[in-house]
Amino acid sequence: MKPVKIGICGLGTVGSGTFNVIARNQREINARAGCDIIIEQVGARRDNPACDTSNSNVSRDVFDVVKNPNVDIVVELIGGTSIAKDLVLQAIENGKHVVTANKALIAEFGNEIFAAAEKKGVTVAFEAAVAGGIPIIKALREGLAGNKIEWLAGIINGTGNFILTEMRDKGRDFADVLQEAQDLGYAEADPTFDVEGIDAAHKLVILSSIAFGMPLQFDKVFTEGISKIEPQDVDFAEELGYSIKHLGITRQVDNGVELRVHPTMIPKKRLIANVDGVMNAVLVKGDAVGPTLYYGAGAGAEPTASSVIADIVDLARSFSGASENRVSHLGFNNDALQELTILPIEECETAYYLRMQADDKPGVLSQVTTILSESGISIEAVIQKEQHGSAQVPLILLTNRAIEKQLLQAAELIEALDAISGSVTHIRVETLA
Ligand code: HSE
Repeated sequence: MKPVKIGICGLGTVGSGTFNVIARNQREINARAGCDIIIEQVGARRDNPACDTSNSNVSRDVFDVVKNPNVDIVVELIGGTSIAKDLVLQAIENGKHVVTANKALIAEFGNEIFAAAEKKGVTVAFEAAVAGGIPIIKALREGLAGNKIEWLAGIINGTGNFILTEMRDKGRDFADVLQEAQDLGYAEADPTFDVEGIDAAHKLVILSSIAFGMPLQFDKVFTEGISKIEPQDVDFAEELGYSIKHLGITRQVDNGVELRVHPTMIPKKRLIANVDGVMNAVLVKGDAVGPTLYYGAGAGAEPTASSVIADIVDLARSFSGASENRVSHLGFNNDALQELTILPIEECETAYYLRMQADDKPGVLSQVTTILSESGISIEAVIQKEQHGSAQVPLILLTNRAIEKQLLQAAELIEALDAISGSVTHIRVETLA
């Protein structure tokens, strides 16, 4: 078979990783693809000392790559959504296939990009956009194709998980750990994307659309970051047998689809509760297979390159077959995609951890539990902490599952009690059973 020629746009962390792994594993990659994979051109504004491009055709203008008639596959690794979107749409217009690691681009503009690609009969592959090196998109689209997916929950931001782990295990300062994640090349150019959950939201939207067969709806994700987690909540969670993880959760229920990213307490005995550092994991529950767990490095040069190259190899293999036999972008055939309703967070159902400052006197606990019970929320556990010399104590409750708006209404009534000061902290709890 004739060689497949690729053009790499962007030589940052992932671009240089991809360049190096292709050079190092050339024999295996070509043997798997069934043809030679050749880096025809690299487009990068500047060199990266992490890779030696002295024998390559390098252009300082990434758009040269999409115009190059010899390039079959454009590998978009520049990130962002403005230039990257123009680049990808131009590549498609020029009849080129695209491989991208750009989750923001796919989550926000995927519907438009896929439509353009389908019109031109080319493919946009994006395995590296979610969970770095874990082949989760392939697993969902192909390996689990026989299942109705019920829900999935994932630790899908390595930087956030790294920060939470270091703070919990070493008591390190938030800003200090974030700086380390940036130095290691894990964090986004704008690290608020990591800590405020936007990066995880991008990835969750992609997973949810593939799991349930619906167009991408980034504007509907509920997103809450990790910056407000207090050390005392981490300690109380431990005491109750839980870990706090920043999860992306999507679940299909009778009236729609839950799509939410937030700190979540999960039982410590779950495997996913023990996924630490920059590692990612996605737990998928299919009706036939049951729960399945996918684990691996969620960020970094070579783990992400691993997914980029898998897409290149898949495309190269498909060139010898009919284009209509390729796996569709979201796994479901286009005419089978459904416009499912995404539920607002107030309509989602989960259990809760509640923490409040209460006067240390008889009858307060019963006032709180009465409000919860009158709101139809039952209680799973209660802890009241003694604090010497203080007239107030932290009161911690774990509830059973309830619809969020019920919980918010009850929290408002609790906050209005004379014996409670400040607001009621709530962290969502999932058993992931
Ligand atoms: N900033 C992302 C993370 C990189 O930390 O997970 C991989 O998408």
